[in-house]
Amino acid sequence: MSIAAAVLMIAGCSSPKTDAEKFADDLLGRMTLREKLGQMSQFRPRSGVVTGPEGFSYDLETMIKAGEVGSILSLREQEYFEIYQRLAVDSSRLGIPILFAHDIIHGCKVIFPINLGSSCTWDVESVKQSARVAAVEASAMGLAWTFSPMCDISADPRWGRVSEGSGEDQYLAAKLSVAMVEGYQGDDLSDSTTILACVKHFAAYGAPEAGRDYNTVDMSERMFRDRYLPVYQAAIDAGAATVMSSFNDFDGIPASGNKWLLKTVLRDELGFDGFVVSDYDAVHEMVNHGVAADGADAARLALEAYLDMEMTSGDYINHGEQLVQDGVIPEKLIDELCRNILIVKYELGLFEDPFRYGGAERFARETYKPESIALARKIARESMVLLKNEGSVLPLKEGGKVAMIGPFISDARAMNGTWDGFSEAKRTVTIEQGMRARFPEGTLTFTRGCDAYSHIDGGVEAAVRAARAADVAVLTLGLPGNHSGETSSMTSVELPQAQKELLAAVKATGKPVVVLLVTGRPMALESVDELMDALLVVWHPGTAGGDALADLLSGDYSPSGHLTMSFPRCDGQIPIRYNYKSTGRPLTKEMDYTQSHKAKKNYQTCYLFTPNSPLYPFGYGLSYTQFSFTDLQVLDPEVAMGEDVRVKVRVTNVGEVPGTTVAQLYIRDKVASTTRPVRELKGFERVSLEPGASAEVLFTITAADMAFCREDMKFAQEPGEFGLWVGESCEAELEGKFIVKE
Ligand code: NOJ
Repeated sequence: MSIAAAVLMIAGCSSPKTDAEKFADDLLGRMTLREKLGQMSQFRPRSGVVTGPEGFSYDLETMIKAGEVGSILSLREQEYFEIYQRLAVDSSRLGIPILFAHDIIHGCKVIFPINLGSSCTWDVESVKQSARVAAVEASAMGLAWTFSPMCDISADPRWGRVSEGSGEDQYLAAKLSVAMVEGYQGDDLSDSTTILACVKHFAAYGAPEAGRDYNTVDMSERMFRDRYLPVYQAAIDAGAATVMSSFNDFDGIPASGNKWLLKTVLRDELGFDGFVVSDYDAVHEMVNHGVAADGADAARLALEAYLDMEMTSGDYINHGEQLVQDGVIPEKLIDELCRNILIVKYELGLFEDPFRYGGAERFARETYKPESIALARKIARESMVLLKNEGSVLPLKEGGKVAMIGPFISDARAMNGTWDGFSEAKRTVTIEQGMRARFPEGTLTFTRGCDAYSHIDGGVEAAVRAARAADVAVLTLGLPGNHSGETSSMTSVELPQAQKELLAAVKATGKPVVVLLVTGRPMALESVDELMDALLVVWHPGTAGGDALADLLSGDYSPSGHLTMSFPRCDGQIPIRYNYKSTGRPLTKEMDYTQSHKAKKNYQTCYLFTPNSPLYPFGYGLSYTQFSFTDLQVLDPEVAMGEDVRVKVRVTNVGEVPGTTVAQLYIRDKVASTTRPVRELKGFERVSLEPGASAEVLFTITAADMAFCREDMKFAQEPGEFGLWVGESCEAELEGKFIVKE
């Protein structure tokens, strides 16, 4: 809220109406109740992407003409953007333009790495640019709204949608979500290359029980405010114009009918003034949740919760009029919600020119620009994380013979991952294509070896022959492109058995083994860790993935990605996060009473035999060079509440080649009124250095960074001593401290 508006509020007057508000109020005055409900309804054409139940049967064109379609999602055929818009503008009574939406979450035509991969760059500016490119391409197709960023953090790699988010940490995820909102929306919504961002899935969708999609979320309000809410909040503060309510229930109430979430927290506390859309069919699904008797009851719950727009189920348009006629829902409430939508449409400039998005000439000019592809290659390169490199097997030696093996080497879909609807296989550089373009002819062989989940006839034997004939075997293992994302939750994140067997057979040849892990989620790799000499996590790296990979394998660039989700040792450790709480009995080496337990329980899967630590921790990532962190200085060792703490450190490239690392700062609140995480990320910076060069990095920890949900439920600071660590992962050892005085 502006200062002027706040002053007016205190003085008891409301602020003068904006042009958008005046326009919306005038229009509302001319709309029938059904037309208002139509604006509050989003539908999908029959050919659109289906991510839920079919819902009720309708004829989209008839409804558009009747003014009953406020928004259309998931339209695939480009020519229909104009056809449907024309129908709405020319044939409906009031000619209100349609808002076209789609899930453009990691690129539109040019696909960037899946979001989890991009987060491993820790490169906020590049992520912002990628969202900008996506907005330019999407708007050139006719779209005005994307369902992104996904602000759900998650520590559960079984949950398929971790691929769509920015990892397990709220501090980093907040920065990246803000960058995406800024990239999509720019400074001016009415610019024809900016599109609406949508903060989703509100709320806490990333914490479903057992990692099962759509499952119940039950957590304390304190945990919600401490860990989950800050990411949504940051994206809303950045000006995101829309929010999507999630599928899950939260504290027993489905999010789409949860007035505490959608009104008390979102609007009253966070000051959100755009509009909320439900997730796909989520309003009607309140019947399955068992909180609504039928569609009418579901519509009532959603309306009472201040949910502005309903996605696909049709309960608003089918039951809204009756609810008003029966006096269950006041028309004033419908007006309030519909108005939120009309205002956003106005701010987009849709009323001024409904056809401002799209156009064949613009599409040809704006898509697949060379600089967009170059950005995708850079981000893909920065997103890949080197977790292991024994004997410096990487980069590959010049002129050496390389056996490329595995089910994904020529698979374009595996490059793009989930939500790649507008991508084209012919534009995607596969691993095979990228490698062939960079390495001399005759040095590479390509052998499939097995399918993702099963053996192929003679596959292992052929792979073994290829490895024997080469100097090094490079196996591309992991998961298919469509095995992460929605409805892709898994009960195990171990490598599929057929791939484990292929890996073991190739390792038995005695040749050095490099594993390229194509995946949309962290995987549990302890059981196969010793079979790999090197391990590079490639994620689903997007359009330029094959080229980016060749950049790294050749040594043209050094890997610089750092993990944003912990890689567990085994499934049983999940959920796993670096910022866990200490407990009253933290696991230490000195706990010798555990020895007597061990004697009694000598079975390997007992937690006493598995460290609590992951196989590869949050923040971790190697490069072809090494960095030292020295000269840590806490410039403000004692501060008052509200003051910043500045911390300085020197980073030096002590290796032989140029490289980039991510300097990370973690803190721990030693004694607080509620239990605090053992470490929390509070600063990071990418640092690129030539061999022998060094740089000073300055971190500033603000009072807001130290705030948490205190015992009294206030989100604020407390005085006391804080530990701090700086380094290249959450296990950083360079240590300091500071004190916040009363
Ligand atoms: C369901 C998904 O949960 C959501 O993320 C997506 O935006 C909608 N379907 C629309 O496709």
